[in-house]
Amino acid sequence: MSSTQKSTVPGLVLNNSVTIPQLGYGVFQVPPAETQKAVEDALEAGYRHIDTAAAYRNESGVGAAIKASGIAREELFITTKLRNGEQGTAAEAFDNSRRELGLDVIDLYLIHWPVPSQGLFVDAWKALEKIYESGSARAIGVSNFLPEHLDTLLSGTDVVPAVNQIELHPTFQQAQLGEKCRSLGIAVEAYSPLGQGADLTAGPVTELAEKHGATPAQVVLAWHLASGNIVIPKSVHPERIRQNLAAASLQLSADEVAAISALESGARIGSDPAVAAHTQL
Ligand code: A2P
Repeated sequence: MSSTQKSTVPGLVLNNSVTIPQLGYGVFQVPPAETQKAVEDALEAGYRHIDTAAAYRNESGVGAAIKASGIAREELFITTKLRNGEQGTAAEAFDNSRRELGLDVIDLYLIHWPVPSQGLFVDAWKALEKIYESGSARAIGVSNFLPEHLDTLLSGTDVVPAVNQIELHPTFQQAQLGEKCRSLGIAVEAYSPLGQGADLTAGPVTELAEKHGATPAQVVLAWHLASGNIVIPKSVHPERIRQNLAAASLQLSADEVAAISALESGARIGSDPAVAAHTQL
């Protein structure tokens, strides 16, 4: 595999001056046995940012693909996440993720869900702060945190999360949460950015795709980039993997961005973080 391909993806500077490629490749729902091949395809296509989680059970596939690629470590940005059931043992969980990925340093380590019923996320964050201070994670952040979880976290800890990774796509934008994050210096990262494929058939999306000679997924991803979101689409198909990356060169006008933003319906696809406990994670 060539290691010389350069991605044209813009970099976004986090609140601790670390730069994250704004468009990455997410492996949520990529089966463990297919992960190495899928990530190799993504790296070959030019992605340099890969998003996984201990709960996806595919970190070792990501690690194998990184090793096989021969790409220099400093060219890559790797995110993984703390499993819900390990919020009380975050240091050990982090070391396990590093082993599975074959990496000494993780670029971004996130608390996967707040699980407010456990009452552990503040303690978990204090453990992540120690990991960050040790240099083993270049940035730390959260995922699925609602405003009240951010308030609790910020009032009891020192480091402001670098990102909040949340469900975000044209039909479910969480605009108020995004505004709150940005006002606190927390970058907004969109998971299920294509609405798990469901937002790709919306009228304005297909119309703009036709107008620009682009795919519907490229239109939605260009909307995310224009909105300032970090975005991590998933596909297991090499052609789609490549097409999705090429969204970085599609520019939408302000009116086109507004037409996609008007698709908000308030309908969440995934779990509600206020109640989600996901003990299996
Ligand atoms: P597949 O993996 O079979 O390509 P999200 O990132 O919002 O979770 O969306 C992922 C879903 O969207 C998956 O079902 C994926 O299917 C599909 N998908 C990803 N990229 C594209 C694309 N370029 N065109 C159509 N569907 C896509």
